Amino acid sequence: MDFEPKLSTVNAALFERFGRYLNDVEAAIIVGSLQRLTYEKIAEDSGYSESYVRRDVGPKLWKMLSEALGEQVSKTNFQTALERRLLLLESKEKASQLIPLTPDADCKTQLLSSSRQDWGEAVDVSLFYGRQNELATLTQWILQDKCRLVALLGMGGIGKSACSVKLAQILQAEFEFIIWRSLANAPPLETLLTDLILFLSNQQSIKADIGQLIHYLRSARCLVILDNLETILDAEQAGQYSPGYEGYGELLRVVGETSHKSCVMLTSREKPAEIATFEGVELAVRTLQLKGSQEAAVALLQTKGLVGSPQKKQALCERYSNNLLALKIVATTIQDLFDKSIEDFLKQDTMVFNGIRRLLEQQFNRLSALEQTVMYQLAINREWTTIDQLQKYIVPTISKARLLEALEALNGRSLIEKKSSSYTQQPLVMEYVNEKLVAQVAKEIALKKLSLLFTYAFKLEASMLGSSSLKAALDLNWNEPNQRNLALSIVLSVLEQAETRAQHKSH
Ligand SMILES: Nc1ncnc2c1ncn2[C@@H]1O[C@H](COP(=O)(O)OP(=O)(O)OP(=O)(O)O)[C@@H](O)[C@H]1O
Ligand SMILES: [Mg+2]
Repeated sequence: MDFEPKLSTVNAALFERFGRYLNDVEAAIIVGSLQRLTYEKIAEDSGYSESYVRRDVGPKLWKMLSEALGEQVSKTNFQTALERRLLLLESKEKASQLIPLTPDADCKTQLLSSSRQDWGEAVDVSLFYGRQNELATLTQWILQDKCRLVALLGMGGIGKSACSVKLAQILQAEFEFIIWRSLANAPPLETLLTDLILFLSNQQSIKADIGQLIHYLRSARCLVILDNLETILDAEQAGQYSPGYEGYGELLRVVGETSHKSCVMLTSREKPAEIATFEGVELAVRTLQLKGSQEAAVALLQTKGLVGSPQKKQALCERYSNNLLALKIVATTIQDLFDKSIEDFLKQDTMVFNGIRRLLEQQFNRLSALEQTVMYQLAINREWTTIDQLQKYIVPTISKARLLEALEALNGRSLIEKKSSSYTQQPLVMEYVNEKLVAQVAKEIALKKLSLLFTYAFKLEASMLGSSSLKAALDLNWNEPNQRNLALSIVLSVLEQAETRAQHKSH
């Protein structure tokens, strides 16, 4: 049986009444009850205790659902109530499709019930888990607080696009027009404006200017979603636009500053400068930084049929900072190479490979030289690092202002984590940067260009100089992070000693 439509109906009703969705245990009770399972069986299948399911969550759930559905429901009769609601929704939808579309403002009430929608290449979110808090926050910003410009930021693969589609689906009844566009192919501003205006004007206008767009954002309530904004941002300067795309800055500025009744939501791995400037002063401009969602991550693993205890599943999710894309990629590997066993995979201690490496590679290649240096230092240091520590490590010396700028840029790109004035990386990112450093150093050794080695020579271990220690270093396991750091330090020391000897000789 496909429970999705019924679960969605329950979720929609709960959200409408209480601003939240079913949590894991509640969802298990709903699905179990739809299958006519006993509380005992539901508890057994979902891993919760029977008394918790029967006496605590169950009664509260039926009470809440009775309120949300507007009639008294229980474990045995809620199906009928749900079916009635589904039918009602379907008939409303059919009725709305019969209403003719017209751009005339007088017909706004009609348009409200038949919002025009163009989902472009929006991803399928029929399997979407968790994110209740984020969706509730965004809903509040857009509906109650009437935000005009909302940025959904976060590292690649964390779930921005999926979240934007889900949100648009939830809010669809509130908007007369919904248009979702990906900027992944870097359309020039004019192309995007033509596309948006054509849609928002019901094919009546092809004028491609920002003023015209604002006109339509004023005359109807529109939700415009621009996905992958980072594509048109400059690789070198964080938050700035690639040459030829500066007009997008103006677009965001005008959308954020001018009064209108619509909302433009964008997703990006990096924060555009306009958002940074206006979110402080303009209450109608806000940013939500998406972090990994453990609920979504665990649910995702569940669907992949991997074998492992809840603890192992949690360990796997944490290892990848609940990054859904990373976990999807890893899950495929565990299915193919580890016979679905999470435990066997975890034993391997290899975090970064294949698709995830490519994902991070894309992000890393966009960084400036200083940003890359900061990334290397944070990866070497492994722990939370203060600005002063970082400044000490970086050779040649740079000013605190430049370092802060680089840190701000990396934070904007979701590559580092910030806590008061200390910084670190997510484990997945750290592992990748470490690997990259080792590969880079190996290349430098091969090319006899020792700059990188000496830059990182602060790790020098004086007591381990000499060729016997070099041999020991090469015997260490370079796949194990701590051993690799040690091995690197030894190699660096040996090479530096050789360099000093060579300099003495030449004098
Ligand atoms: N809440 C969720 N439940 C289930 N799957 C999800 C959820 N969020 C994201 N996913 C899945 O995880 C993968 C990565 O998500 P998504 O593409 O939204 O990430 P993103 O942050 O937009 O990444 P990028 O910066 O590369 O565009 C997708 O396959 C998506 O379908
Ligand atoms: Mg995306």
